[in-house]
Amino acid sequence: MATRTLQRLRGADFLDIAQLDASQLREILDLAGEIKAGRWSGLPLRGRRLALLFQKPSLRTRVSFQVGIERLGGSALVLGEQEVGLGQREAVEDVARVLDRYVDGIVARLFAHRDLLALAGAASCPVINALTDGSHPCQVLADLLTMEEVLGRLDSATRVAFVGDGNNVARSLMEAAAIIGFQLVVVSPPEHQLAVTAMPAWVQVTADLDAVRGVDVVYTDVWTSMGQETEARARRARFREYQVNAELMARAPGAVFMHCLPAHRGEEVTAEVIDGPRSVVFDQAENRLHAQMALLAAIFGGV
Ligand code: CP
Ligand code: NVA
Repeated sequence: MATRTLQRLRGADFLDIAQLDASQLREILDLAGEIKAGRWSGLPLRGRRLALLFQKPSLRTRVSFQVGIERLGGSALVLGEQEVGLGQREAVEDVARVLDRYVDGIVARLFAHRDLLALAGAASCPVINALTDGSHPCQVLADLLTMEEVLGRLDSATRVAFVGDGNNVARSLMEAAAIIGFQLVVVSPPEHQLAVTAMPAWVQVTADLDAVRGVDVVYTDVWTSMGQETEARARRARFREYQVNAELMARAPGAVFMHCLPAHRGEEVTAEVIDGPRSVVFDQAENRLHAQMALLAAIFGGV
């Protein structure tokens, strides 16, 4: 499958879901489905090398990118925080200009979203956001694929509740809901709500847990994201009521449970829910691979 819509992503950075239009998002998901079904195989990364620049720990993102790059014919060079010292040992822009001379693309997991913007601004090769404090768009590509698979649809009748911290994952989900048109409510304690600017009526923020009533998906994430560890104790107290447990899931009897992982059983979710029959968390994890391969094929010219 080749389309003009996806060709507009050729050579582009992928920093946020909001940069995509509905047809690009649709085609990335379709291609991811084809890849997953074994109906598409291309080698758009043949002879290409990508740097995986990670300031924070990672299991899924790092491994799925590395495996996906290899399956697409390319090679990956993993660079940890200790080696590079981004912004400490060397200015972010200089790291970008140097990597640019060696590699064909950069997949970056950084603490500060503004550093990602600086990196992308200084590098001429494509830069892909592998999570910042602001957003996690690659996660949400996989989540959308998962929702479509398990619900059989993802449209204006679909209702998703994200319960917990108004964090990077919640922000990317919001951007996706705004583009695709599914209904999203982000349910957080008042002091941890996402600031909503210019969101359509079907994207809402509330502190009221009753908003999960009758939804199709209940999604949660850790209460303390990477980089916020000093706040962990205070956060545990503030989020206690927002735990996804059997009682909360009972308000949405038809809902599946989603979590980007890693999870903390007994904090944001009980073991009963995450290990129960309604949990699709490992499908989400698998779909990171397929969704990111589709993204890479779009950026590096396989479609
Ligand atoms: N969900 C996710 O991004 O996992 P990692 O932090 O392990 O990459
Ligand atoms: N919100 C979490 C997601 C981890 C994949 C974090 O930023 O740590």
